[in-house]
Amino acid sequence: MLDLVFVTLISTTLATQLGTIQMTVGDCKTNASSVADLLVGKLPPSASIEKIAYVETGDTYGEGRRNLMYPIQPTNLPELCAVTIYVPTSSTSAYRFGIFLPVNWNSRFLTVGNGGFGGGINWLDMGAYVKYGFAVVSTDTGHNSTTGDGSWAFKNPEKRTDWGWRAMHGTVDISKQIVEAYYGVNIKYSYYNGCSTGGRQGLRQVQIDPDSFDGVIIGAPGWYTTNLNTWFTKAGIYNLPETDPKHIPFNLFSTMADLVIRQCDMLDGVYDGIVSLPDACVPDWTEILCSNPDADPSACLTEAQASTPPNVYGDFVSSSGELIHPGLSPGCEGQWFAVLNFTNTSPFGFNYIRFFLLDNIFWNYTYWDDSLVTYAQLTDPGQSTAKDYNLTTFKDLGHKMLMYHGLADGLIPPRGSDLYYRNTLATMGENLSSVSEWFRYFQVPGMQHCWSTATSPNSPWYFGAEFQAAQMGTDIWSVPGFEDKDHDILLALMDWVENGNPVNALVATAWNDVWNTSSGVKSQRPICPYPNMAVWDGIGDINLAASWTCGYVSSDDRRW
Ligand SMILES: *[C@@H]1O[C@H](CO)[C@@H](O)[C@H](O)[C@H]1NC(C)=O
Ligand SMILES: *[C@@H]1O[C@H](CO)[C@@H](O)[C@H](O)[C@H]1NC(C)=O
Ligand SMILES: *[C@@H]1O[C@H](CO)[C@@H](O)[C@H](O)[C@H]1NC(C)=O
Ligand SMILES: *[C@@H]1O[C@H](CO)[C@@H](O)[C@H](O)[C@H]1NC(C)=O
Ligand SMILES: *[C@@H]1O[C@H](CO)[C@@H](O)[C@H](O)[C@H]1NC(C)=O
Ligand SMILES: *[C@@H]1O[C@H](CO)[C@@H](O)[C@H](O)[C@H]1NC(C)=O
Ligand SMILES: *[C@@H]1O[C@H](CO)[C@@H](O)[C@H](O)[C@H]1NC(C)=O
Repeated sequence: MLDLVFVTLISTTLATQLGTIQMTVGDCKTNASSVADLLVGKLPPSASIEKIAYVETGDTYGEGRRNLMYPIQPTNLPELCAVTIYVPTSSTSAYRFGIFLPVNWNSRFLTVGNGGFGGGINWLDMGAYVKYGFAVVSTDTGHNSTTGDGSWAFKNPEKRTDWGWRAMHGTVDISKQIVEAYYGVNIKYSYYNGCSTGGRQGLRQVQIDPDSFDGVIIGAPGWYTTNLNTWFTKAGIYNLPETDPKHIPFNLFSTMADLVIRQCDMLDGVYDGIVSLPDACVPDWTEILCSNPDADPSACLTEAQASTPPNVYGDFVSSSGELIHPGLSPGCEGQWFAVLNFTNTSPFGFNYIRFFLLDNIFWNYTYWDDSLVTYAQLTDPGQSTAKDYNLTTFKDLGHKMLMYHGLADGLIPPRGSDLYYRNTLATMGENLSSVSEWFRYFQVPGMQHCWSTATSPNSPWYFGAEFQAAQMGTDIWSVPGFEDKDHDILLALMDWVENGNPVNALVATAWNDVWNTSSGVKSQRPICPYPNMAVWDGIGDINLAASWTCGYVSSDDRRW
């Protein structure tokens, strides 16, 4: 059947750079059964082909409203073949995955991740990345739900396992074979790109099979499920019940954020509205205390309310002194609603305990007990926790990892990523210099969870990471106007993997209109591998990347 596939060279700019080859999919266009014939031998016996569809240049593709998590479809797609595969994993669960096989293929394979507890093939991000020329795959993780809905996990350990690791593991395995069968040649390089749950999935996959990818991008990972998802509940309780004098309502979060930014912006010596050193920031609420005659009485904190933030920022520590999970970092208060604006704690905490851990629909936060953390650690429902710190095989195979986390993330504490990085170094006996050969960690000042700005005007947070292009529209990919390795994290990773050029800095972009990549560049600034940070030259325009270098600030209180 391989004679159905013809290979010719094309030449467009990025295509040449990536060595794109053009494949004819006349077979996909006019004879889907010929594609099915190519793929069927690559599937496990129980699996089946759900759909093979030809997509014309400029067309859209997806499942629309039938996909609860990703109902929005990518538009203006390049010519491709879209394949959906169904894989039963037990009598009570099955996962599906979708692949885009572009006609102009760059010989590379890319897996994109998911978000929250959501279940659905991430067609939208697949659409953004197929425009680079990748064969792109995404799994629905074994269920069909929106991000905060965990009810599918209730009394269904098989579905938890699919979400935890099995759907991703199987999807990567099978889809690589599909890609090679379809094009009739071997994949040159394999990559992973995910944020949030996607970050966790990437780490988990690399821990299970260190040779799955040549390069991985791990964004704001919710890697520590047992401890993070119980922390979500614990942190929510700091602000409950709503009738308690210590409760801070939603409308005060922005007042608090403004104060923290005013107080801590200058810790890095640059007045730019960005808290670049949140760990050195200790907010003092005096200015907005209701007892302060200068405070706005319609937006002030009582003494009781002022006792809540230190809990939210603080480490969650067990009675025996063990660190369970770090808290949020100052500067993210504008996104506190993600953890603190719920009558029954965040769905990521509440639903984890009800549906994954206890199988008890009647449980609510008033029954909280710290021993639930121990129980979570013992059982780790679905084995989703990505806490293997020994990546020796991944490293020895020459593979590369880029991790990033927004320092103004109000959902997943950035110090959780610090913890993964630190534990990996300690476990593997690496120091900051040796680890930089294969694993680099970028903190992104002012960025919220996976995307967006904590400050107004927009701060630089856009660098082509997962979900970012999708925030900007259904037809956006890479960093418009800057589709290069200096501005796009995936192109930067490829240059490291394929050409041996380590990622020493990456320029993040802010647009004039936060959500419009055609509105012109407002500012650009490098983000830097830890422990370096962007350092201003003291003279140039702070909105220009050239006025900054990656350097080490010895006077700060970075943890090591
Ligand atoms: C479709 O492809 C198959 C080979 O997989 C071939 O047997 C069949 O004749 C083709 N059908 C048409 C209409 O060309
Ligand atoms: C997902 O659930 C929705 C709502 O129940 C349903 O309409 C849709 O068909 C389901 N999608 C899939 C792929 O099963
Ligand atoms: C915060 O909670 C209030 C009350 O439930 C709700 O009206 C509001 O939409 C929530 N805001 C956010 C951003 O979640
Ligand atoms: C928690 O559950 C108990 C018993 O079902 C109920 O009485 C109480 O109102 C619930 N509390 C909340 C905050 O939902
Ligand atoms: C890490 O994994 C490697 C390869 O499997 C093994 O040789 C080594 O002993 C492990 N190191 C630790 C600290 O467990
Ligand atoms: C870091 O580790 C490498 C490899 O183990 C070692 O050669 C180097 O001397 C260490 N550097 C520092 C600064 O400790
Ligand atoms: C984005 O900005 C451009 C340039 O200002 C403008 O023409 C376009 O209408 C904007 N798009 C949206 C969706 O606002």
